[in-house]
Amino acid sequence: MELYEVMRRRRSIRGFKPVPIPPAALERICEAVRLAPTACNLQPFRFLLVQSPEKKAAVCDCYKRGTWLATAPLIVVALGNRGTAWKRLNGTPAHVIDTSIALEHLVLAAEAEGLGSCWICAFDQDELHRTLGVSDDWEVVAMTPVGYPDAEPRPFARKPVSELFQTI
Ligand SMILES: Cc1cc2nc3c(=O)[nH]c(=O)nc-3n(C[C@H](O)[C@H](O)[C@H](O)COP(=O)(O)O)c2cc1C
Repeated sequence: MELYEVMRRRRSIRGFKPVPIPPAALERICEAVRLAPTACNLQPFRFLLVQSPEKKAAVCDCYKRGTWLATAPLIVVALGNRGTAWKRLNGTPAHVIDTSIALEHLVLAAEAEGLGSCWICAFDQDELHRTLGVSDDWEVVAMTPVGYPDAEPRPFARKPVSELFQTI
C-alpha cells in the first residue's frame, strides 16, 4: 500500500477477529519499528509482544475502559528507558519521543498489512509496571492491540489544515 493511503486508512480499531497474525507480517512490522529514528540513535526502547492468554489477561486488567482490548490476538507494550535515552538541553530524557515514533511506525506498518491497532495510554501505569515487573528506569509509554479488525472506527474528525499550520 502506498504511504499516504496507509495514513488515510489507519483508524483506531477497538475490536478484533480471533485470527492469529501471520508470522511473516509480524516480522515485517517489527522491522519497521527497528527502522525508526531516535535521538543520537540511542534506541532506548523495548517492545513486549504480549500473546499468552495469561499475560494478555494481566495486561488487560490494567486498562479499565471496556473489555474490547482482550479480543486482540496480540498486544504490543512499548517501554522507553529514561536512563539510556538522550537528554534534552534542559535535562529532560527523550525516551517518550523516541518510543512514540517507533510505535507509530508499528501502527502504520500494521495498517499496511491489513491489521488494525489503537494507541492506548489510559492504563493504570503503576499497576501495569507491577504486572510486567519492569524496573524504575523503564516507562510504559503506550501500548497497542494488533489484529484483524472486527469493529468500525469512530466517526472521523480533524481540525482543518489552516488551523494547524502557520507560515511565519
Ligand atoms: C497518545 C494517545 C493515547 C491514546 N489513548 C487511548 C486510549 O487509552 N484508549 C482508546 O480507546 N484510544 C486511545 N487513543 C486513540 C485516540 O482516541 C484516537 O487516535 C483519536 O480519537 C483519533 O481517532 P483515529 O485514531 O481513529 O483516527 C489514543 C491515541 C493517542 C495518540
